[in-house]
Amino acid sequence: MRKPIIAANWKMHMTLSESASYLDSFLVEVADENRVEIVLIPPFTALSKLGDLLSDIQNIKLGAQNMHPKTSGAFTGEISPFMLRELYVRYVVLGHSERRTLFGESDETVNQKAHAAMEATLRPIVCIGETLEQRDAGAVEEVLETQLRGSLAGFDSDALENLVIAYEPVWAIGTGRTATPDQAQEAHAFIRKTLAVLGSEASAERIRIQYGGSVKPDNAESLMSQPDIDGALVGGASLDPHAFSDIIKATSKLTQ
Ligand code: PGA
Repeated sequence: MRKPIIAANWKMHMTLSESASYLDSFLVEVADENRVEIVLIPPFTALSKLGDLLSDIQNIKLGAQNMHPKTSGAFTGEISPFMLRELYVRYVVLGHSERRTLFGESDETVNQKAHAAMEATLRPIVCIGETLEQRDAGAVEEVLETQLRGSLAGFDSDALENLVIAYEPVWAIGTGRTATPDQAQEAHAFIRKTLAVLGSEASAERIRIQYGGSVKPDNAESLMSQPDIDGALVGGASLDPHAFSDIIKATSKLTQ
């Protein structure tokens, strides 16, 4: 019922020319894929070119890694939602843990950005997740609920359906230490339950929740086969077009 969404978060990797040659190899691998929604999230500098190259390819969408909440103004170094929309960007990652820890983004910032994104018809991928200390202290649910309530304040259930949530336990990002399928499923089920309270049961059933944190071709199937996991936000493994397409293919196989 929920179409899986697999996204490549390239972070600060890939020059413009590297992005274009990545696409050459990647398109061959995923040409016939239509069971999974694919999102490429390059650095800002590659968005325009990739937008052109993907313009007649329906099953691959473009995403941005961040944006400023204002439409325009004196914000040196920032990019507005409408600037992204003009480049055929459909998704924007908000509140990634690297933005939260390295650039001081709070749930309130994420919330402002999420509203601005929706106004520009960009779909936010809102990232949440606990640190290892929070997990060890038994505070996973409390942390996730606080992040969801803060980041999603002011959205009704219709609006919530346009969002994607990415559950990314901070201790699993870029560490090679993946959450077990059971740990991930438990967190996803809790997130869905919380979304039902914030919106409605029906909308919570339709919202896609991605898992992120050391997703690789060899663990994709066991994670993606969990009932509340609807895709992945992939960092390191998405930099290799073959590894990333193997993750997509493993997910696609599960939908047959
Ligand atoms: P990773 O990154 O796959 O390299 O762990 C995931 C992310 O940060 O979105």
